Amino acid sequence: KSRKWPLPTYLMVMFSILKKTAAKCPHISQTYSIGRSVEGKDLLVIEFSDNPGQHDLLEPEIKLIGNMHGNEVLGRQLLIYLAQYLCSEYLLGNERIQTIINTTRIHILPSMNPDGYEIAASEGHEYNGWTSDRANAQNLDLNRNFPDLISIFYNRRRFRHFRSDHIPIFESYWINKVEVVAPETYAVMKWIRSNPFIISASLHGGELVISYPFDLSRRPQEERMYSPTPDEQSFRQLARTYADAHPTMSNNDTERWWYGDIY
Ligand SMILES: *[C@@H]1O[C@H](CO)[C@@H](O)[C@H](O)[C@H]1NC(C)=O
Ligand SMILES: *[C@@H]1O[C@H](CO)[C@@H](O)[C@H](O)[C@H]1NC(C)=O
Repeated sequence: KSRKWPLPTYLMVMFSILKKTAAKCPHISQTYSIGRSVEGKDLLVIEFSDNPGQHDLLEPEIKLIGNMHGNEVLGRQLLIYLAQYLCSEYLLGNERIQTIINTTRIHILPSMNPDGYEIAASEGHEYNGWTSDRANAQNLDLNRNFPDLISIFYNRRRFRHFRSDHIPIFESYWINKVEVVAPETYAVMKWIRSNPFIISASLHGGELVISYPFDLSRRPQEERMYSPTPDEQSFRQLARTYADAHPTMSNNDTERWWYGDIY
C-alpha cells in the first residue's frame, strides 16, 4: 500500500505538540517516556502537577491512556487537546483547572500503540474496519495482554489476612513465562508499579459504552458472571458521572449496539 506521509510524521507532530505544551507551562508540566513500542517509538507521557516530576504526599495520581488500539484514534486526539487545555486554562487563571492541577498529579499517555496508529493513519479511514491495525506490531491486542488478576483476587479472598487493595503482578508474567508480554504492556505495568495511581481511564473508540473493573470474570470459564471489585460503588458512581455528562450517552433515545465482549 502506498503511504501518504513519511512514516515518522504522525509521531513527530504529537511529540512536538506535547513538548511545546510542556515548554509553555514548565512550572506545572513536563514530558517523559515510559518505554518504547515494538518498533522503537517512545511512549511519551505529559504530566501536570504543581510539582512536576515528584509525588507529593496525599496528592492523588491520575493516569489517562489513549489509542491502546491503533485504529481507535479519538482518545489520542482528545488527550492531546486535554493537555493543551490544561496548560492554557491554567495560564488564563481558570480557577477550577488551577485547583485540579494544584491538588492532583495527572499523567497523560495519548498513544499507547503508536505502531498500530501509524499504519491505521497512513491507510486512512476508508481501509479501516474495527479490527485493522488494532493490535501492536507483534499482532498482540494490548487490551488482552495484561494479566488477569481477577480470578486470583477471588481465590485469595477466601483466606484470612488477605489484602484486597494490592495484588502484585506475578513474577512469571514479567518475564514472559505465561504469555508474550508486549513492550507497550510491559512499559505500562512498570509505570503502574512506580506510581501510586489511584484512578485511571483508557479511552477507546467505536462504541458508546463505559466499562469499569472488573471487566473479566471471577471464573474464567463463565465469562458473564457478575464480578464486582470491592470498590464497585465508587466505580459505578464514576461511570454514571461520566455518562451523565455525555449528551449522547445520557440520552435515552440513543440507539445502542452493545455486543458485550468485543473490547
Ligand atoms: C495554584 O497554585 C499557584 C502556585 O502556588 C497559585 O499561584 C495559584 O493561585 C493556585 N491556584 C488556585 C486556584 O488555588
Ligand atoms: C432515562 O432512563 C432512565 C432509566 O430508565 C431514567 O431513570 C431516566 O429518568 C431517563 N431519563 C430521561 C431524561 O428520560
